[in-house]
Amino acid sequence: MAKWVVREGNVFWPSEEMKKVANISNSDVYEEADKNPVSFWEEKARELKWFKEWEKPYEENLPYFKWFIGGKINMSYNCLDVHLKDKGDKPAIIWEPEPPHGEARIITYNELYKEVNKFSNVLKKLGVKKGDRVGIYLPMIPEVQMAMLACARIGAIHTVVFSAFSPDSLRHRLNDSGAKILITSDGYYRRGKEITLKDKADEGIKDTGIEKVIVVRRTGSNVNMADGRDFYLDELMKDAEEYCEPEKMESNDTLFLLYTSGTTGKPKGVIHDTGGYAVQAYLTTKWIFDLKDDDIFWCTADIGWVTGHTYSCYGPLLCGGTMLVYEGSPDYPDPGVWWKLIEKHKVTIFYTSPTAIRMFERTGESWMKKYDLSSLRLLGSVGEPIGEEAWMWYFENVGGGRCPIVDTWWQTETGGILISSLPGIGPIIPTFAGKSFPGVRMAVVDESGNELGDEKPGYLVQKSPFAPGMLRGVYGNPEKYKKTYWEKYKTMYDTSDGAYIKNGLIKIEGRTDDVMKVAGHRLSTAELEDTITLHENVVECAVVPRPDEIKGEAPVAFVILRGKEREGLKEDIIKLVERKISPIAKPAEIYFVDDLPKTRSGKIMRRILRNLISGKELGDITTLVNPESVEKIKEKLKL
Ligand code: WTA
Repeated sequence: MAKWVVREGNVFWPSEEMKKVANISNSDVYEEADKNPVSFWEEKARELKWFKEWEKPYEENLPYFKWFIGGKINMSYNCLDVHLKDKGDKPAIIWEPEPPHGEARIITYNELYKEVNKFSNVLKKLGVKKGDRVGIYLPMIPEVQMAMLACARIGAIHTVVFSAFSPDSLRHRLNDSGAKILITSDGYYRRGKEITLKDKADEGIKDTGIEKVIVVRRTGSNVNMADGRDFYLDELMKDAEEYCEPEKMESNDTLFLLYTSGTTGKPKGVIHDTGGYAVQAYLTTKWIFDLKDDDIFWCTADIGWVTGHTYSCYGPLLCGGTMLVYEGSPDYPDPGVWWKLIEKHKVTIFYTSPTAIRMFERTGESWMKKYDLSSLRLLGSVGEPIGEEAWMWYFENVGGGRCPIVDTWWQTETGGILISSLPGIGPIIPTFAGKSFPGVRMAVVDESGNELGDEKPGYLVQKSPFAPGMLRGVYGNPEKYKKTYWEKYKTMYDTSDGAYIKNGLIKIEGRTDDVMKVAGHRLSTAELEDTITLHENVVECAVVPRPDEIKGEAPVAFVILRGKEREGLKEDIIKLVERKISPIAKPAEIYFVDDLPKTRSGKIMRRILRNLISGKELGDITTLVNPESVEKIKEKLKL
């Protein structure tokens, strides 16, 4: 069996075999690209099909910048039309339902092209025009990629909302984006249960501008269909024309909005453009995942997150690849389900989260030993730091000691991976994400923006020229865009992550702001606090993350009550969070306290709570107006 990686102590290098076949194996690429990142990206952009070439490759007027100015391109054209001649009969999507609800579907490029064209015409007929926002609230079924590509084809801006988000979360996103159309489904299957998504959608569109709802039939159950407002997709598709001319988008026109959590209460709509994002998605998939014609690529991320957008949809399709899409969860009907799928479809590239890996580590190797995983040749990790133990476990048990692991660092805002090792070049060192991707300049700096030397921890930033896949703003809120990403360093993009560099490789240490990564999901402590304080018995609340063996982090709430504690109150608060945000955000622990540590100006010192709960040094508490509160909380925590 081919070995794709060789080990030298704690460092992993591509094997000779890997170097021979890899899409990129010449390490000069880093230096070459860094000499002139703009011409590097220009050259790569030419691998996509442009209706018209750009007049100017890059322009900066900070905090704004543009790529491929004047260039005309269409995302759906590059994902579909360009592959028809050579790859029409090749599977684009292999879809697997959650067992036992249905059969696998194999959708070729020809078929996907046909469906997307019809879907585009359906949208047009319902009045959707270029620049209009379309909400997509769908589970992992192929119609979600079709819906995104249909929007892209006609120049409509999609905003996908994770199907496990609550109706309230959906409503906020629909209102903020001003969407008039929502695409959803009757329901879907999750851990053996039927989830009636349409009911949640009906609730979520109340008090929004949604005029029409397109419903994909997945479960076939009876759902409420409002006359003149709700339409089944299959019925609309019946009379739809077979061809839809792709809209010629200016490269900087918006492709999608994706809402993400920041340091304040309400999620913000991150804006991604068309051309720059496409180039980044394409090249990172080709080089980091080394995607080739005969690969079967499986990114397990849900489409509701950026990883799903870039690597469960656009990246693989831009490369003309075949991807697996799975509706269900990793542990249902048993923890063997993912490995069974890898065996069945001979998956070659597998991309998942450290949380999933830790979960499988806990369940034990026996589940994967039942299946043949020898088709795998490359593994990836994303979303949170991966510890050495989980890395080695993944390497040995999933990769059979043969496959390189790419630990990919990026964010909703960056659109595509910015830091990773390249599997044909190396080196790969467990727990280090790697180098900046060619043509990208990441750096670690101190508070005032001075670059730090080796092994000095600081703040992770990006320097000019900014990568083509980067966000172009926050929808409807330029102030927020400036404040969040550009206020601190002005000429550098602030990632809000802590990091250090050792031997040229970047080690990510985690968020430095009030954003948590719970099971890889990005959640804001402020949003949880705002939600919990909505409860009539709650006066004040602080939420901080505590380390969690499986999920990486878990939210813990400290709550000051109005009146006395009563039975069932904790459960009520948890239910409130599930209802208002999502079950994924529910606090792992709630402590009722009399007082929260505060500064003289009344600011809650979350850092102290965070240190308390994770057993770290408390740090300076002399600036507190109520240092005695710390002792009392310690008692509660029985420390
Ligand atoms: C964290 C996910 C360590 C980081 C694509 C970042 C990581 C946040 C890694 C963005 C990694 C992502 N190692 N931490 N390989 N990848 N992160 O927007 O804190 O959901 O800022 O995008 O995830 O989360 P988001």
